[in-house]
Amino acid sequence: MLRAKIIATGSYLPEHIVTNRDLEKIVDTTDDWITERTGIKERRIANDCQAASDLAYEASLSALKKAQLKPKDIDLIIVATISGDMPFPSTACLLQAKLGAKQAAAFDLGAACSGFIYGLHVANGLIRSGMHQRVLVVGTEVLSRFTDWDDRSTCILFGDGAGAAILEATREKRGIMSTHIYSDGNLADLIMLPGGGSRSCCSRESILKKLHHIKMKGNETFKVAVRTLEELASTTLEVNSIDPSQLSLLIPHQANLRIIQATARRLGLPMEKVFLNIEKYGNTSAASVPIALDEAAESCRLNDGDYVLLEAFGGGLTWASALLRW
Ligand code: COA
Repeated sequence: MLRAKIIATGSYLPEHIVTNRDLEKIVDTTDDWITERTGIKERRIANDCQAASDLAYEASLSALKKAQLKPKDIDLIIVATISGDMPFPSTACLLQAKLGAKQAAAFDLGAACSGFIYGLHVANGLIRSGMHQRVLVVGTEVLSRFTDWDDRSTCILFGDGAGAAILEATREKRGIMSTHIYSDGNLADLIMLPGGGSRSCCSRESILKKLHHIKMKGNETFKVAVRTLEELASTTLEVNSIDPSQLSLLIPHQANLRIIQATARRLGLPMEKVFLNIEKYGNTSAASVPIALDEAAESCRLNDGDYVLLEAFGGGLTWASALLRW
């Protein structure tokens, strides 16, 4: 049976660090409040010259280097992002040009924080069907450009970064065991960036109304996320006939430490089996899971044969999971 397997990962974080103490000088908040409610201590912010494709480029180069592949060896590039360089061309096409990946088709995928796992889902299907052989899936975000720095309930949450994974076909009994994607557009208004599209394109009024910034109903989002992620994780394990005790690592989307703890608790999973980097980077949306996956691989937390569960939840609403056998 043909499966898709992640053969290498990479990530890139901008150098500039903004701490909770820095935010205390901008909005009415405290380090204690942010740490207690979210688990975030600091986040990375891209410099003025860096757009989503630049971060994606660095993460992709790192993955290609580890895989000992050249850009021409890739035949499809999927970029998950909600903060692409521009409405079009796609950030994936801009990345393809930067890499010189001439053999690759390229497109963007918009599923907010679930985008990377949605990308794995698509790549997995295309590889299993034999339509593509080697796919680069990237999550990249420069959400700092769309953050309302006057809104203390959202500006404390987000950060910039990128993560990448290269997938190829394998006949081994490991790789991506299953992927699961879901959405509920009825809850679109919980997290959105209302301006900049054909509904409210850029105008004096849209700028005055701050429609080009992220709007979020944090508390409601929190409750839906906790409920949904627990069900998602249980379903994914059940489909694969895996007991939570057989999981070596849960790599969750890093949105809020309390959401992650609730998911782990409901699965009966000790926190030692949960990968966390939210403290350093905050919520990097589509980049969050691949950055964490890369850091888990680099810190030797993934061993041959391990069952690893990836899960994410985000705007749309969307939610998604993938069970990997490393
Ligand atoms: N500093 C201090 N106080 C703050 C604050 C901040 N940065 N942000 C909000 N508050 C205040 C609110 O104004 C409110 O005050 P009030 O009671 O006087 O009105 C109080 O804290 C509680 O607000 P609430 O929104 O209920 O807090 P919360 O415990 O739900 O935490 C979030 C807020 C945003 C941290 C939390 O809801 C969250 O993480 N939600 C999910 C976000 C998420 O995952 N989004 C993306 C999905 S990918």
